[in-house]
Amino acid sequence: MGIRMTEGSTSATAGCPAQPSAAAKPPYLGFGLGLRTQHYADILDGDPEIDWFEVISENFMVRGGQPLAILDRIAARYPVVMHGVSMSIASTAPFDEDYLDGLVALAKRVEPKWISDHLCWTGVHGVNLHDLLPIPYTREALDHVVARVHHVQERIGRALCLENVSTYVQFNRSEMSEWEFISELARRTGCWLLFDVNNVYVSAFNHGYDAMDFLNGIPADRVIQFHLAGHSDMVNYVVDTHDHPVRGEVWDLYAAALRRFGPVSTMIERDDHIPPLPELMQELGHARSIAGAVLGPAVAHPAA
Ligand SMILES: [Fe+2]
Repeated sequence: MGIRMTEGSTSATAGCPAQPSAAAKPPYLGFGLGLRTQHYADILDGDPEIDWFEVISENFMVRGGQPLAILDRIAARYPVVMHGVSMSIASTAPFDEDYLDGLVALAKRVEPKWISDHLCWTGVHGVNLHDLLPIPYTREALDHVVARVHHVQERIGRALCLENVSTYVQFNRSEMSEWEFISELARRTGCWLLFDVNNVYVSAFNHGYDAMDFLNGIPADRVIQFHLAGHSDMVNYVVDTHDHPVRGEVWDLYAAALRRFGPVSTMIERDDHIPPLPELMQELGHARSIAGAVLGPAVAHPAA
């Protein structure tokens, strides 16, 4: 299958803005969780050993109310990073500038350590498909996404962090691998990378390549965050469902990622069948133990 990315495509070569890559690399935060409403009380009433939280930006891009009040309290106690799901950085549709205004306003409020979204498109022609859709890895698409990352980075005043998505189809027009596309995107824009370990596993399984080729093809100095999550094994393919504990093969890939990338802020994403906080913290403890074994106790417990 193929998609021509002509509508709205622009070249990043003319008038290329200064890269924000000269900015200092964001700090290593340790081991965090995605902030979920089910855990608000446990977090606010207790003092759980969680180093930081990732918040879904869109959930808090509102004018006021209880969610923002809770976020203020959590941001006062923990480092926070913002993670969006609808920037649609690779779409051929014009940017929703109101959305970017909302992102900037939220960032001003919570002072996130970084702002991330996904290397994908989520809609076109005014329709939001509410899914993280794959792109063809062509030079044309790369020019297009580079220009759009520059635009976002100018608007948010910092380097954007982009995550690899899990994919279930590939484009026969692709001219390079996903990791080559991501590497070139990072080189040309100075964006940071969120390396979703489970997504790499899922895509590698579904498309029949070696996840280590992906891992070894990414520029180590641009990776600032890991996602870990559970997937569903459908025998012939796997689906990134975020409703299971992290599986053994993904823990193995995480250990390999630590060996290659060094200390990288790590978190577990759980979006369905969300367990009680202590259960999720136990799983996070397993990530700490792997990091401790690979990189030493100071990486496993940075706050100690
Ligand atoms: Fe993820």
